[in-house]
Amino acid sequence: MSDLPLMQENKGNIVLFYPNIPEDVIPEVVETLHGRWIGQGPRVDQFEREFAAKFTPGWKTVAVNAGTSALHLSYLAAGIRPGDEVITPVFTCTATNIPLLHCGAKPVFADIDPETMNISAKHVRELISEKTRAIVCVDYGGCLCPMEELRSIADEYHIPVIEDAAQSLGGFYKGRPVGTLADYTAFSFQAIKHITTADGGMISLQGTETERKLKRLRWFGIDRYAKQNGIWKNDITEVGFKYQMTDVAAAMGLASLKTFDSKMELRQKLLAIYKDSLEKVPGIQVVGADFIGHGHAAWLCTVLVENREGLQNKLREHGVESNQVHFRNDRYTIFGGRVKNCPNMDAVEEKYLILPLHTHLTTGDVYRICNIIQQGW
Ligand SMILES: Cc1ncc(COP(=O)(O)O)c(C=O)c1O
Repeated sequence: MSDLPLMQENKGNIVLFYPNIPEDVIPEVVETLHGRWIGQGPRVDQFEREFAAKFTPGWKTVAVNAGTSALHLSYLAAGIRPGDEVITPVFTCTATNIPLLHCGAKPVFADIDPETMNISAKHVRELISEKTRAIVCVDYGGCLCPMEELRSIADEYHIPVIEDAAQSLGGFYKGRPVGTLADYTAFSFQAIKHITTADGGMISLQGTETERKLKRLRWFGIDRYAKQNGIWKNDITEVGFKYQMTDVAAAMGLASLKTFDSKMELRQKLLAIYKDSLEKVPGIQVVGADFIGHGHAAWLCTVLVENREGLQNKLREHGVESNQVHFRNDRYTIFGGRVKNCPNMDAVEEKYLILPLHTHLTTGDVYRICNIIQQGW
């Protein structure tokens, strides 16, 4: 595949991603900047409460500075330690797996399910060993993982499931919302996610003790609430991080919650147009198509396509940007080299392509893209 430069926004071009910044974000941020708290303050607490009320009722939430930090803290909360093996998808953003290396754990890569490009539960079961400490799954593109199957394997071996829901905010699995399905769920509010705080993340979990621990770990290991109330013993007993969310970021998150539903509706509509328009086009298949409209969080439109480079070039000629976005993680030296037991990944490696899907697109834009594809490449 040719390495194409970023497409410019001008001349009616359709770019792959665009941040979702609702109008309400600007006054909320300005008000925050005029106040006493711009770092971690009351807006972070409020964002945690409102996020939980909207997406993960009854679950604890801990806001952090990135989805990657949410994953790192989730891995620590799950008890992942040096030398542990963790079964994790071979195909994902590297941010899923890099924090495992920070924990000193060994990522054991599981193959994909060819229909969704999510982790294959069947392969997870085959990979379980005495050293397996946890299972990590990623809702690729917004399509929910086979949580029931993963849960039953995890329960059988008494290990936790950590769900990377960076791409699936607002998704559902068999009627249950993402964030209430795994032991720990990590969300991302990075620039191009459903909701953005420029950078930010959230963990949803159960248990007040774990919640308190994660809130300490995001702030050096200090209990900030005890400190602010003057009851802190002035000792640090856990090595923490500087992973807290700021009030400026939380202001963006709070304002974005208000328009989440309408933005999600648009994303769903756009993805459904791709699905319906490309269904009968030879040589192309929309990934996870059966889940679209059934709990899919509509973050990416991924297609499997014959002659990927041909389609990418044709789209480019018509001012439409497309890309691979993520690559199989075993191509990166840090993860120890290419694995030989992921045939489904091998089969689609040269075929997958991501098409534009964001809240600056209109239905007309997506029909235009589908029309170009329908003409062949
Ligand atoms: C699947 C996945 N996991 C983790 C992350 C990391 O999130 P962040 O960029 O907020 O650290 C991202 C996106 O950036 C992602 O797409």
